[in-house]
Amino acid sequence: MDPTEPVNSQDSLGRCDAESLMQAIVGIVKSDHEARWIFSQVTGFNYYEARSLGVAIERSWLERAMEAANGRAAGLPLQYAIGVWPFRNLQLRVNPAVLIPRPETEVLVDEAVGWIRSKGAGPKPVVVFDLGTGSGAIALSVASEVELSRVFASDRSAKALDVAAQNLAGLDESTRSRVTLLQGDWFEATDPLGVSPDLIISNPPYISRHDYLGLDPLVREYEPESALLAGDVGTEQLFRIVEGGPSRLAPDGVMMLELSPEQVKSVSDRAREVGFLAVHVVADLAGRERVLVLGRAS
Ligand SMILES: C[S@@+](CC[C@H](N)C(=O)[O-])C[C@H]1O[C@@H](n2cnc3c(N)ncnc32)[C@H](O)[C@@H]1O
Repeated sequence: MDPTEPVNSQDSLGRCDAESLMQAIVGIVKSDHEARWIFSQVTGFNYYEARSLGVAIERSWLERAMEAANGRAAGLPLQYAIGVWPFRNLQLRVNPAVLIPRPETEVLVDEAVGWIRSKGAGPKPVVVFDLGTGSGAIALSVASEVELSRVFASDRSAKALDVAAQNLAGLDESTRSRVTLLQGDWFEATDPLGVSPDLIISNPPYISRHDYLGLDPLVREYEPESALLAGDVGTEQLFRIVEGGPSRLAPDGVMMLELSPEQVKSVSDRAREVGFLAVHVVADLAGRERVLVLGRAS
């Protein structure tokens, strides 16, 4: 399709104005809200801001916006159709090889960043493992927000790590130099480093088989099953990570996990059984218990 076809007012360079582009996007996706996301992610401007400033829409923006709108109209989740999605301060590339980063994971990162900062600037960087990094949302946020950090991010999926590598490549030199990507199953990826981390963070798959079947069909059809489905019960991967924590963490190290509220009790109980002395739960902005903070020391 000629990307300029639905746009009516263009100048001699093939540029159009914000209003024409917006009309073209809405005409395809049939949603004002989604059209505004596409517009702002592609142009870097809020639609009303672009209109009032008289921003001329570049031809490349027009092409990307039409591609995103057509992808969305063909059924792709909006985030994959656009190909980029915001997470905290980052604009992350996303495709169906990785989970679309969720707002609740920003709570997990908030805890992690707060904890690292509370340790103060020591002589050595704070060593962080992000297990199951996907797009790199957690690892890259921590590394870019806290200069004191040295981050090792792992995933079992090579395709997910490709996306994380692309996202890492877009960051500044200081951040890039403090992140290493590793492939492998949970601790199998990090054990060869021979390093005791100060902080282990993970947002592992934590959905049971039963709940997985009840997810929004758009999620099941496009997002990787391996990022969501944990097993029959839902806590299988959380347990594996918790069980591996005490022997690997530094003596005053901490583990932070994302989970669903109904898993808090069983995972906390398991954490105490395997030797964690401090167990603390953090709620999201809606008051739902979404993050478990486990300490080796009391
Ligand atoms: C829920 S996603 C989280 C992605 C990203 N950290 C985020 O918060 O948006 C879980 C990730 O764990 C990875 N994963 C699943 N099982 C794994 C395993 N056994 N070992 C390592 N990574 C695994 C998946 O490939 C996926 O990228």
